[in-house]
Amino acid sequence: MSTTLPTVKDNPITRKKVTTSTLRAKKQHGEIITMLTAYDYPTALAVDEAGIDTILVGDSLGMVVLGYENTLPVTMEDMLHHCKAVARGAQYALLIGDMPFMSYQVSVEQAVGNAGRFLQEANMDAIKLEGGRERADAVQKIVEAGIPVQGHIGLTPQSVNQLGGFRTQGRDAEAAFRLVQDALILQDAGCFSLVLEAVPARLARLISERLEIPTIGIGASKGCDGQVLVTHDLVGQFDRFTPKFVKQYANVHSEMLRAFGEYKEEVEAQTFPAEEHSFFMPDEEWDALQSLLADNRI
Ligand code: KIV
Repeated sequence: MSTTLPTVKDNPITRKKVTTSTLRAKKQHGEIITMLTAYDYPTALAVDEAGIDTILVGDSLGMVVLGYENTLPVTMEDMLHHCKAVARGAQYALLIGDMPFMSYQVSVEQAVGNAGRFLQEANMDAIKLEGGRERADAVQKIVEAGIPVQGHIGLTPQSVNQLGGFRTQGRDAEAAFRLVQDALILQDAGCFSLVLEAVPARLARLISERLEIPTIGIGASKGCDGQVLVTHDLVGQFDRFTPKFVKQYANVHSEMLRAFGEYKEEVEAQTFPAEEHSFFMPDEEWDALQSLLADNRI
């Protein structure tokens, strides 16, 4: 029996809200899934308008928006604040809120409670959390509570101290085997999708082929069922460093520098604001004001 694919169309009349079923159907039909991060209202508007399937409000916002060295200081309140803004801007994309460090590791109860806040308070459709087999119980309970979960294995930035830096994972047979097992365990626990970060191309392809749920790669080659990038990297708005797996499609940072420099020059030279940026008062009102000032000795 053939299933109908709920496609995302550019036409706003026929365009439908993306769901976890849309992503699974896309995998079944060999259609590639697109995902980008967004942390604010205008970016959500643009990503949604561009027809991207999924928006991740990633805890990467700690680095690219809040200026931290890594994602560890990001709190639930930070995440909910940004998720709410994104939800106001996106109409069609599936919205995934990223659970921050220490919001799900303490206990399964804590994980379920915090996962629920993303849907109840911040209008997200699903959550993402990092880790393999050690998160299976939490994933299962969150899913049982009716909350779709995206897993994230390979380079998991919240474990940067344990991993010894932002390094490619699964390069030897044993580590690769563990990742394959983790992927299967997370699928069995109920994840609707899995992010594979910084793993060798052939391993990413193997995992993607072994899983029924879609994989979304970042630094994991085109062997995945979809791709995600941090939007600030893609548009060149974050220039502290650019990982090898990023392709920069624009250079917003240099464009901002150019615009700010030009503004400074024009303000200092008093060529901005010009007449077209100013408001005018009718002559008779101006004359009346002069009389008022004179009458009141001001
Ligand atoms: O926080 C994030 O943006 C992420 C992506 C890199 C997958 O986890």
